[in-house]
Amino acid sequence: MRPNSASERGRFFSALEEEFRITKEEARDFIPEFHQEMQAGLARGKSSLKMLPAFIGRPKGTEKGNYLALDLGGTNCRILEVELDGKGKARIKTVKRWVVPRKIMKGTGTALFDFLADCLASFLKEHPTGRKEKKRLTFTFSFPFFQPSLNSGTLIRWTKGFTASGVEDRDVVVLLTEALQRKGVKGLRITALTNDTVGTLMARSYSDPACDMGVIIGTGCNACYPEQGKRIKKYPGPGLKGEMIINMEWGNFDGLKSNPYDVLLDRDSPNPGRQLLEKMVSGMYLGEIVRLVAREMIARHLWPSGPGRLYWEKSYSLSSRDVSLLAEGKEPWKKKKEWDLNTAEREMVGRIGGIVALRSARMAASALAAVISWMDPLLEKKHTVAVDGALFEKYPGYRSWMSEMLWEIFGDKAKKIRMVLTKDGSGIGAAIVGAVAVTLGSRGRP
Ligand code: GLC
Repeated sequence: MRPNSASERGRFFSALEEEFRITKEEARDFIPEFHQEMQAGLARGKSSLKMLPAFIGRPKGTEKGNYLALDLGGTNCRILEVELDGKGKARIKTVKRWVVPRKIMKGTGTALFDFLADCLASFLKEHPTGRKEKKRLTFTFSFPFFQPSLNSGTLIRWTKGFTASGVEDRDVVVLLTEALQRKGVKGLRITALTNDTVGTLMARSYSDPACDMGVIIGTGCNACYPEQGKRIKKYPGPGLKGEMIINMEWGNFDGLKSNPYDVLLDRDSPNPGRQLLEKMVSGMYLGEIVRLVAREMIARHLWPSGPGRLYWEKSYSLSSRDVSLLAEGKEPWKKKKEWDLNTAEREMVGRIGGIVALRSARMAASALAAVISWMDPLLEKKHTVAVDGALFEKYPGYRSWMSEMLWEIFGDKAKKIRMVLTKDGSGIGAAIVGAVAVTLGSRGRP
């Protein structure tokens, strides 16, 4: 280290904080811009927000029975059997998890759907279906898809690092059905297709009528909310009465101020120019931004030398989970011994992580505030926001940073907004979607 590097490092961090800062004023300016994009997206105008009708409204809380859910979120795939008691209580009876191998995420669509069919086959072998209801399956597919009905949907574009070929522009329910046939899996009927945000909203609103937003802040970042039928201008066919949930795909919002690290990350990503909000907020990218900052510090001779160098050379070698653990002063999740970091490096990762995660939380809160004020401009009602995802749940301080931002935007009225961690929302909610599907039929409009 050079003799003056402590003060140089201090200057570097002040500049870094500045580059990642979101002021109260910026957050307030962000809201009308976000509203414009929402409005355009609802009217099929040009918009970075896809605003996809989900062909379902919120549940009544009286839905009952046992349902299966296949949940493909990102790096994990889960199958769950959920029991709904008809009085607002949902219980996971069985759950099985698989990690989706990287070569499957990036291979062919056939291999991906065969993998899902194999997961279903192995689940059904251990938990054979008995009663008729158990054979109804909801597919939670946590990617942007255009839905012409509740039980079909065409993938618009992969996100979160998936690139499996031959899936974009195809109906994923058809692809899953074909894979089930190839693998000889019988007796399942896919009754609904849903997004994880919709599942999360459904899971909480099953017992909480004040719940009107589902948000995911994990590997990806997105939100949904119930929209009044008359505001969904692009809805095909006769005008909609009542409400329909809209999967916003807000991760693609692009009216944001980016810094040099964002530009670098986007340039080298599999989807440049897309998912810009997601790239600044979600767990898939947080570790990578920290790595890019660390590399810059190494280049400027500001990094405390240590064994961690290997980390800084390989893209995406630092996970947000590691950053989160280091920020808490815990052991990183070691994959390889030679990637161990010394104490000074750990502190450094924690410090950079804090700056990047603070921006993430403030940006997520600003987007959340925009949706709440779209639904309720004067903030007259109470709103429960169901949130799931590891960043929200586990990153030290994340949740309070979001609350602080809401207070900066709304003042005292922020107390009307309650963020509730809704764990396993995408799986439990899928079961509720399945139950509502039974009452609606496959067209599924409320
Ligand atoms: C990505 C997907 C979106 C999903 C989110 C959270 O943004 O495009 O559909 O809801 O990740 O998993």
